[in-house]
Amino acid sequence: MKSKQLYDAYCKPKLGELLSAIKLDIEYTSAHGNYLYTEDGRAVLDFIGGFGTTILGHNHPALVETAISALRQGIPINAQSSIRGETARLAERLNTFTPEGHDYYVNFTNSGTESIECAIKHAYKVQFDKVRREYEKVCRVLNDFYHRAEREHLQIEFQGKSKDLIDFRDDLEEYNLAQFESFQNHPVIIALKGSFHGKTSAALKTTFNKSYREAFEGLSALRTFFISAEQPERIEEIAVEQACTFYYPLLVDEKLTLRPISITKTIGFIFEIIQGEGGIRPLPEKTLRYLADTHKSLSIPFILDEIQTGLGRLGSVFAYAQTPLSAIAPEYITISKALGGGITKIGATMIRKDIYDQDFGILHTSTFSDDEYSSRIALKMLDLLTERDSELLKQVTAKSAYILSGLSRLKQKYPCIVKDIRGAGLMIGMELTPLDERSPFFRASGKQGVLSLLIASYLLQYHDIRLLAPLSTMLKGNPGKQRLSILRIQPPLTVTAEEVDKLVNALDEVLAIIEANNEYCLIAHLAGVSVPKEMRESPEQLPVSWPIATEQRHIDARTGFVIHPPTMENLEEYYFPSFQKYPPVGEGLRQWWNAISRFLEPIHVRTSFVSSNDFTIENSMVFVPYLPEYIVNNKAPHLVREMQDKIQDAVTLAKELGDDNIPVSMVGLGAYTSIITRNAETINDYEVPVTSGNAYTTALTLKGIAYAAQTKNLELGSARAAVVGATGNIGTVVAQILASNVGSLKLVGRPGKDNLLRLKFVRQSCWMEVLKAICRNGREENAGSIQLGGLAASVADFLESRRLNQDRTFEPVFAAMESTSIGFEVCKLFDSLVDSMQNQPDAPVIDMEITLDNLRDCDIVVVSTNSPDTDLIRPEMVKPGAIVCCASVPSNLSGKFDKSLSRNLAFDGGLARLPEGSTVDFIGMPGGGLTYGCLAETLLLGFDGQNHSFCKGMLTVEQVYHSLQLSDIHGLDLGDMKLHNTHILIDSESRLAA
Ligand code: F0G
Repeated sequence: MKSKQLYDAYCKPKLGELLSAIKLDIEYTSAHGNYLYTEDGRAVLDFIGGFGTTILGHNHPALVETAISALRQGIPINAQSSIRGETARLAERLNTFTPEGHDYYVNFTNSGTESIECAIKHAYKVQFDKVRREYEKVCRVLNDFYHRAEREHLQIEFQGKSKDLIDFRDDLEEYNLAQFESFQNHPVIIALKGSFHGKTSAALKTTFNKSYREAFEGLSALRTFFISAEQPERIEEIAVEQACTFYYPLLVDEKLTLRPISITKTIGFIFEIIQGEGGIRPLPEKTLRYLADTHKSLSIPFILDEIQTGLGRLGSVFAYAQTPLSAIAPEYITISKALGGGITKIGATMIRKDIYDQDFGILHTSTFSDDEYSSRIALKMLDLLTERDSELLKQVTAKSAYILSGLSRLKQKYPCIVKDIRGAGLMIGMELTPLDERSPFFRASGKQGVLSLLIASYLLQYHDIRLLAPLSTMLKGNPGKQRLSILRIQPPLTVTAEEVDKLVNALDEVLAIIEANNEYCLIAHLAGVSVPKEMRESPEQLPVSWPIATEQRHIDARTGFVIHPPTMENLEEYYFPSFQKYPPVGEGLRQWWNAISRFLEPIHVRTSFVSSNDFTIENSMVFVPYLPEYIVNNKAPHLVREMQDKIQDAVTLAKELGDDNIPVSMVGLGAYTSIITRNAETINDYEVPVTSGNAYTTALTLKGIAYAAQTKNLELGSARAAVVGATGNIGTVVAQILASNVGSLKLVGRPGKDNLLRLKFVRQSCWMEVLKAICRNGREENAGSIQLGGLAASVADFLESRRLNQDRTFEPVFAAMESTSIGFEVCKLFDSLVDSMQNQPDAPVIDMEITLDNLRDCDIVVVSTNSPDTDLIRPEMVKPGAIVCCASVPSNLSGKFDKSLSRNLAFDGGLARLPEGSTVDFIGMPGGGLTYGCLAETLLLGFDGQNHSFCKGMLTVEQVYHSLQLSDIHGLDLGDMKLHNTHILIDSESRLAA
């Protein structure tokens, strides 16, 4: 197997897929200096620099030499619990770089997160001991008090619930213990919003990004308060608020009083000088000064995370040495990344000697932490960094300024695209705007942070440059929340002016492509087509497609509707209009979309207004990226769950579009979003009510059939109807309703034992509707008012003949009919009785089929399947003159029907006409005042003010009738009967006028 396949098979399958989808799935086989190389000799200029690790470039020759000679010498890597000379020298050396030569003990680690873990653990231990001592002190005081009171028979007046001395002592002991435990259960740490400190249990608690943290919160008891970098004064407030308060008794003038002792539960304040993963955000100068000024009075230990900023990235070994913080001695300094020169894994936690817990060196160890080999390399790395009077470090300022000026030129040139250039030293970020004035693909990918990955892909593809966004860009964010689109530029200190120019020119090119709204030039390579240089360098300027609507209206209610692209053509129309201007890319774009869509989040795409009777609804459409084929072809449970979660996020996003005044009162699920959530069953509808849209879709389908039959003078009561997809949610109810209205019925399902059982169940439920209809018809007040359809009439006749024949086997059925309570058991019995009487000429029949080969005897064929096959039902499969109605999206009716409309009345059911000339427009929507039944149902419920979920799970006949009633009240009706959105067979306006 190739490395990529092995990686997917045995390492990180989803990350592997993402890397493939953006063509970053390259295996580098060597790395030297500022370049990475592939096996075939491609040299890629590296601006990621191991996220800050390769400060001297990749595999610096002197470091490699150190490593090799150390190994040749047989350096004792593993002589744990002996004197480690190199380690000791490294610890001493690190101390020399602190501004005032402060004294630190150094605990070595294997990674950044471990350095943080170590600092947190130590800080906890220090505070734990303080809290414990206070606690023990009050326990002693209480004990003394108790014994003295007992001994001296003190007359004490107890207040509160304590009745006597023993009670008093027990209560206070219990209270103080609870206070002590509250520290252990939730020690407090203060961190900054946007922070990143690693991913092991405790470090992760201090990492701001919720997506990283959420699933692991419970692993550590640490309680983090994330404060804004603009509000450092919160540190003191939190430290005071978050305290244990112990009480001890004291006799004052013979009276018992309780005295408090408070001690904070805050173990420390952790921060970076420039947040790296959080989006290259330098701490404001004001904040740095505040921290320096208050450090002493706060008495909250500072854990200064220099894992990324340290070791040269900002021009000195410790970045804080160049800030106001140089005046203080932080209790903890953590480093890693560049310490090993990029060739060995080593980190360190420096702990100020005066607070050092002497036991810690034994309490906290790790097999590989103090190794001679890594320490020697780190020492060499520090030599190289500082040799020739720190020449390399001194160059940082100039190099930084050169990069910043190049990027600032781009910001001036593309003000609508580049929002900010920030950072310091060789830790620089370029943030993009939300791109509200660009075409939808740029807007959506920009909002979700994906654009930065696409830019990275482009730079790699055409310019052999490696650049990345923060890793968190690859994770899902909070539904609807704007994500940061940022490029991180972190070259080694050895970067040259030519290399920076190369980067700036390449960025210039890609920004011009975004400016031109030209998706083709940006991503055609992902669809398998390499765009020639000339085309990329002067991208065709295209107009903004689907600009953001800014219409404002007075509204009375809000609804949301979740959609997905019904076809690839629809998707291209919305996201990739530029592709029309260039030679076709074949299946490439479709394949790419199917690969990337699991990494894209739901997005709000359109707002429409629908009015009826002076009541206006604002409907927001939320788009999930999946094509139907993706949904249908990905049945693996983890993918199904992922899709369900994404649709849940879409519902949450739709809800978030409301406000307290006018919340979103109903969210509908369009097309496959309802299927994949098992008709909304997996959706958390306690957040906002939902509906699958199936009731009104079914109602419209049935109305369409009735109307078509009327125009064709087809007597429903004697017509033979087939329901293709009868075991589906909509198909079942269509069959149930048709059963009591048509002459005879055929239920068509897919082959397979389970499907046959399901078909049988549907048939039983059809009998139920028939029996109920007969009962209703038989009731006094209804007698004769409803003409029973053929099938219902023959069942009634058949039952009558059974009765006359005194057929005892039918007695339970007669009894149920008399009591008019038709249960399912009775229907099952009836089904098996009639099934066993098929030789009786008058026995009613509902046929079951598992093939599509026998539709030619039906006058009506209703199709409602989950199949994305757009050629499932073809004209030659049905009877000439038959009415063929399809409720599936996309339509299962073959394109051949377009040419045989004189032969068949074939149409796609489920279209509604909106009231009062309202329109809802979007890709794949019929437009022109028409909409799909599922959206229409959502609007009906919005008009009706329904505040609980409507269609969820199994659809019922009652829901269909209820939706019809609502549509009468709110002015929605059967829309045009169209085939493939092009042929209008019956136009609803003229129909309604007539
Ligand atoms: N602290 C900071 C400031 C970091 O940037 C990182 C890692 C860590 C701690 C954790 O170090 O990965 O060795 O455990 N930052 C990388 C980044 C992941 O993307 O900036 P680790």
